[in-house]
Amino acid sequence: MQNTMNLYDWKDSYSVEISSIDDDHKGLFRIINQLFDAMSHGKARGLLDETLNQLIDYTKTHFRREEMYFSTTNYPETLEHKLQHEMFIEKIVALKKGFESGDKEISIELIKYLSDWLINHILISDKRYMAHLKKYGLT
Ligand code: FEO
Repeated sequence: MQNTMNLYDWKDSYSVEISSIDDDHKGLFRIINQLFDAMSHGKARGLLDETLNQLIDYTKTHFRREEMYFSTTNYPETLEHKLQHEMFIEKIVALKKGFESGDKEISIELIKYLSDWLINHILISDKRYMAHLKKYGLT
């Protein structure tokens, strides 16, 4: 039996101290690790495609949740933050199209790029709303 390989593990320092958001972020790590594991073990193209779709759906759901919190609390940095979300979704949708058309392959570098983007986004942009959302009672 093959061992599951993780590219990145969740760390407590990634927490924004709001459980629904932390759970989403942990889920994103889980899917990225699944993608990395499938890639490392040379799994079938179909499985990679399915995992990439899962990543896109899960990411969209997560971004919608954050944006809903921004809207209900009048978060002052909503526009800048939403722009980052939109750019990331555009990027992964373009990657998926490239993969489906056979123009691009899913590589370890690509998975690292996605993970690094997410970690940076959580540590810099998501951490910025933490105090604001907590002030409105989100836990
Ligand atoms: Fe957790 Fe702004 O994404």
